Amino acid sequence: MDKSILQLLPKIELHLHLDCSLSYDVVKKLNPQINYTHYKNNFIAPEKCLNLGDFLRCTNGGIDLMQTEVGLKEVVKDLFVQLKKENVIYSEIRFAPLQHINGGIAAEEVVQIVADTAKECISSTGIKAGIILCTLRHYNEEQSLQTVKLVEKFIKNSVIVGFDIAANEAGFPIDSHKKAFEYAVKKDIPRTAHAGEAKGAESVWETIKYFSPQRIGHGVRSIEDDTLIEYLIKKNIHLEVCPSCNVQINVFDNFSDHPINNLYNSGVSVGINTDARSLVNVSLSDEYLKLIETFGWGYKHFYSCNKNALSASFLEDSDKTILREKLDTFFVQNSILWQE
Ligand code: HPA
Ligand code: ZN
Repeated sequence: MDKSILQLLPKIELHLHLDCSLSYDVVKKLNPQINYTHYKNNFIAPEKCLNLGDFLRCTNGGIDLMQTEVGLKEVVKDLFVQLKKENVIYSEIRFAPLQHINGGIAAEEVVQIVADTAKECISSTGIKAGIILCTLRHYNEEQSLQTVKLVEKFIKNSVIVGFDIAANEAGFPIDSHKKAFEYAVKKDIPRTAHAGEAKGAESVWETIKYFSPQRIGHGVRSIEDDTLIEYLIKKNIHLEVCPSCNVQINVFDNFSDHPINNLYNSGVSVGINTDARSLVNVSLSDEYLKLIETFGWGYKHFYSCNKNALSASFLEDSDKTILREKLDTFFVQNSILWQE
């Protein structure tokens, strides 16, 4: 399979961390003293991390560079350049605003800067995008509520589209975040939540019970529980799967051990994502290529995953229709290129 075809393929990516996706170009622009060796050692996580906590330690470099208006703007612009290169037609980009207030910018201003820059990039590149604001597992109740209220404030007429909880699922319980998600439910704010990655199916059940998310970030360990799989199908809860990231943080030994193929075959709604382009050192086309090489995936899998992701996106229905036509046009016209 020719990789250039994969780059041309229109893609939907719903699970993508802004602060974990800085190219070497933008890092060098923001701090010319950083050479490639430093970038490799500090912005790309080791190919095999001990666990999620070990992986998350590598986010510090990016977050440090994103404490100023210039840093935030450049990182957003850089990510759109990366998305354009491989024809991502819609992306939901997430970040935790409270991680960017150390340089003295207020949290509201952080969100405004990212939203305004994303809007500019949307009109200059033609890529549609939404921004999801994350609370973090180690945050307290107040910080979590502050974050969901930022979503509430910016969601009207803005590119801010939803609320998420990220960071170390295995290290911190969900208790401090119940109120924030209750608030999101009450205000009808779209919700996704990281779960079933560093912990098993019980964590996905707990997340569903207390956070009522429309989607789960990762959720791959749902495969351990048939009843949960049935429930996800029945309730049409989408899994934002990021296979390379899961292997890197040691949830699975090798790519061939990843349950993505079984999840797909079970009928659960799954989509394919990178999670973190610099930390994982992967593009979305790389993920697709690994799926072809490891599981024999082809045209029908990518068409289906992209349609699933689009349906589960936090876009308005009218925007979904426009993007669905783009997917249909490409996949139907080019099906001849794919040998099943
Ligand atoms: N899990 C939780 N938080 C994260 C991840 C992840 O895989 N990547 C970046 N932040
Ligand atoms: Zn993630």
